[in-house]
Amino acid sequence: MKALILAGGAGTRLRPITHTRAKQLVPVANKPILFYGIEAMVAAGITEIGVIVGDTRAEVMQALGDGSRFDASITFIPQDEPSGLAHCVLIARDFLGDDDFVMYLGDNLLEQDLGAFVDAFESARATHEPPTAQILLKQVPDPHRFGIATLDDSGNVVELVEKPEDPPSDLALVGVYLFTKRIHDAVAGIEPSARGELEITDAIQWLLDHGERVRCELLTGWWIDTGKLTPLLEANRLLLEKIDTRIEGSVDQSSSIEGRVVIGKGAEIVNSTIRGPVAIGAGTRIEDSFVGPFSAIGNRCVVLRSEVEHSVIMDDSSINEIARLEDSLIGSNAAVQRSRQKPRALRLMVGDHCQIDVE
Ligand code: DAU
Repeated sequence: MKALILAGGAGTRLRPITHTRAKQLVPVANKPILFYGIEAMVAAGITEIGVIVGDTRAEVMQALGDGSRFDASITFIPQDEPSGLAHCVLIARDFLGDDDFVMYLGDNLLEQDLGAFVDAFESARATHEPPTAQILLKQVPDPHRFGIATLDDSGNVVELVEKPEDPPSDLALVGVYLFTKRIHDAVAGIEPSARGELEITDAIQWLLDHGERVRCELLTGWWIDTGKLTPLLEANRLLLEKIDTRIEGSVDQSSSIEGRVVIGKGAEIVNSTIRGPVAIGAGTRIEDSFVGPFSAIGNRCVVLRSEVEHSVIMDDSSINEIARLEDSLIGSNAAVQRSRQKPRALRLMVGDHCQIDVE
């Protein structure tokens, strides 16, 4: 079994952050989203991983290296334009060979571990009616934003449609798929959709239309497509819920640490309250401040005389004299500063290398 992880595409909904970085590399709980997917693959025993890369390939390739830091072997597969999820399968043909594979969307985060999902497929493959694909479904409140499946009374998949205006059900396709080599016939057999992409949804529909069995499972844990600010902050919250306290930096006598908090090497907490769950990166200084629940502050940041809560702040940024910053995503090397004269909460999405002065 191999893995194909999709880390190309354009992240229009997380601009301005994604003007300067791959959306799959935005950190949640101080770790790039993409790393969670790769770690989940390796935990499921899959170490031969192909990664589709687009315009942001240099950054993704640098972050992942050859995969050895994940105990995996990574092959990068460049895609000139984001021509669709099925197009990714098409261009990965040489890497995939005739092997079964997991396809994983690099901006998705799942609570469930993938091992059980893979095992279920392998067991089903050994039966007298073997499936050629397996999909994971989750009920969603906004089905028009996803690929949607219709099941029959026995729970078999009968139809799939991509982002329907009038959704036939609320069962969304989660960004994890299992395929046998039969998917290559499907991908070769479909045409681009109205939005000009080769849709994986259409390729799976092609399998159904050609008499293949597509197994489905309902996801029980949480799943987040992190492409927008609100889900990204939610993912940050859910992952911070799972951290254990680890304090490698220094905390002075006049500071207090409450709840589960990670404080990285060389970080300094001075005259401040940190109320977990919170992650603070290496070399970061928090002084005369309050850092509240569900905040992830990257490496080498400075937070001075400010309150921060439920926010992601990336590496090398500073928050200076901000009465309250909440529900915010701050890029790297950014500076947000103001006078404390008019206290009010700020909710910001700030790109890399920006300076915001609030009067
Ligand atoms: O998140 C689940 C949804 O993902 C499914 O319900 C949909 O059926 C599926 O089409 C997909 O929809 P999105 O609109 O969320 O896909 P997005 O364009 O965000 O691409 C998903 C990932 O794949 C993302 O990490 C970028 C990457 N990608 C995307 C395209 C279109 C590529 O690497 N190459 C591409 O050509």
